[in-house]
Amino acid sequence: MPSIKQLLLAAMVASMAAAACDEDVTIESDGDVSQLASCSKLTGKVTLGKKVTSVALPATLTSITGDVVADGAANLVAFQAPGLRTIGGSFTLKGLIVLSNLAFPELVSVGDINWATLPALQNLGFTKEVSKANSVLITDTLLNTLQGINLKTAERFNINNNRYLRSVDVALTQVSDLLLIESNGKGVNASFPDLKWANNITVRDAGDIYFPKLQKVNSSAAFVNNTFSAADFPELTSVGESFALISCSKLEKITANSLETVGGTFQLANNTKLTTVDGFGALRVVGGAIDLSGTFKEVLLPKLDDVRGGFNLQSTDDVNCGNFTSLKSAGVVKGDDFTCEGKKERAESKTAGLGTDGSGSGDDTSGAVRVGASFATALLAGAVAMFVL
Ligand SMILES: *[C@@H]1O[C@H](CO)[C@@H](O)[C@H](O)[C@H]1NC(C)=O
Ligand SMILES: *[C@@H]1O[C@H](CO)[C@@H](O)[C@H](O)[C@H]1NC(C)=O
Ligand SMILES: *[C@@H]1O[C@H](CO)[C@@H](O)[C@H](O)[C@H]1NC(C)=O
Ligand SMILES: *[C@@H]1O[C@H](CO)[C@@H](O)[C@H](O)[C@H]1NC(C)=O
Ligand SMILES: *[C@@H]1O[C@H](CO)[C@@H](O)[C@H](O)[C@H]1NC(C)=O
Ligand SMILES: *[C@@H]1O[C@H](CO)[C@@H](O)[C@H](O)[C@H]1NC(C)=O
Repeated sequence: MPSIKQLLLAAMVASMAAAACDEDVTIESDGDVSQLASCSKLTGKVTLGKKVTSVALPATLTSITGDVVADGAANLVAFQAPGLRTIGGSFTLKGLIVLSNLAFPELVSVGDINWATLPALQNLGFTKEVSKANSVLITDTLLNTLQGINLKTAERFNINNNRYLRSVDVALTQVSDLLLIESNGKGVNASFPDLKWANNITVRDAGDIYFPKLQKVNSSAAFVNNTFSAADFPELTSVGESFALISCSKLEKITANSLETVGGTFQLANNTKLTTVDGFGALRVVGGAIDLSGTFKEVLLPKLDDVRGGFNLQSTDDVNCGNFTSLKSAGVVKGDDFTCEGKKERAESKTAGLGTDGSGSGDDTSGAVRVGASFATALLAGAVAMFVL
């Protein structure tokens, strides 16, 4: 039987340990991890100082409720957390120029992943795979795969400037804000086999794309400067705002035969090998303008019956405008700005160029589709005219 004194002592030790596990921890030197030796859960934040070289959190630590931050630890080679399952806050790794070993084999849940400038990091030791995170930003790493990150849902998923990345293959089913993939390895395969909806999607500079289950984009979708020769959106039925495919220089075939509604501008531009547009067999309503420029020989939009903005079809080839001229006179095209011309020396778009300003770095959201002023006002003029009537 333990004495009262022993019990009191045990209680005191326990409460001291608990108190220590309630405070933010700063690890200034590698040995400082001993502060966490008695914690299975840390209610607080862990910050790594700039001088650490190799940090291994105790294997008994399974949960950190706050952030885990390593910013500017230029000598940090290895960062390990063998038992850690959850990080409640943000997992920030920034400017860790020699970090090559990142091993969090049990990690499954993170508040936000926020990683930038990890030029020595080639792969992730995330054996169990992170399946839960609100937002993911990974920019400027050497990662050649994202194996270890396999989310089901996310608010933001932004993967840019990872020049060795060959594939992004993630089981996301929904992205409630932004899905952005740009400036990664040449030919990166952006594969989202389970994605049903996203608020908006921008994919630039990719090789292939794979969106077999995508049904809806609530806001806009843009695919720019990709090198795929074919793109298919078999289940896509609506895009809330703009839908654009631009400067995809090898694109020969685009199909979205379930797509009925594009809420904003529907734009195809600078896809120099796209001579036939016949994969939009269900497109009925375009809430903005239709803006197609290129080398088209044939453009078929057989179900089109309501275009609220203008219409621009310009081709360097001999495209037949008969059907579209009829649509204009039948009042299907409501905007005043109507152009349909073949055999042009230059086929020009009326919507501002997305093709040229590959944006770049960080958590940038410049991928939004910008509509040329005069063209967009066709819609407003149309609306005003309707009210005047
Ligand atoms: C891209 O990935 C998808 C599935 O993950 C696959 O079907 C497709 O063949 C891949 N594309 C290339 C070019 O490897
Ligand atoms: C287009 O993508 C390629 C990689 O496929 C890249 O090298 C090039 O800089 C990109 N061009 C623009 C204008 O963004
Ligand atoms: C987007 O559309 C989906 C499917 O209709 C819906 O469940 C979701 O709430 C919408 N999201 C936003 C951000 O509007
Ligand atoms: C006009 O539309 C009809 C119906 O989609 C199509 O069969 C025909 O080929 C089109 N004509 C031209 C010249 O594009
Ligand atoms: C198409 O390419 C031309 C020439 O590179 C560029 O000036 C124009 O802005 C591009 N158009 C779009 C819509 O990106
Ligand atoms: C994403 O959608 C929101 C509106 O829901 C918009 O404000 C934002 O500009 C869009 N971003 C991109 C990159 O398209």
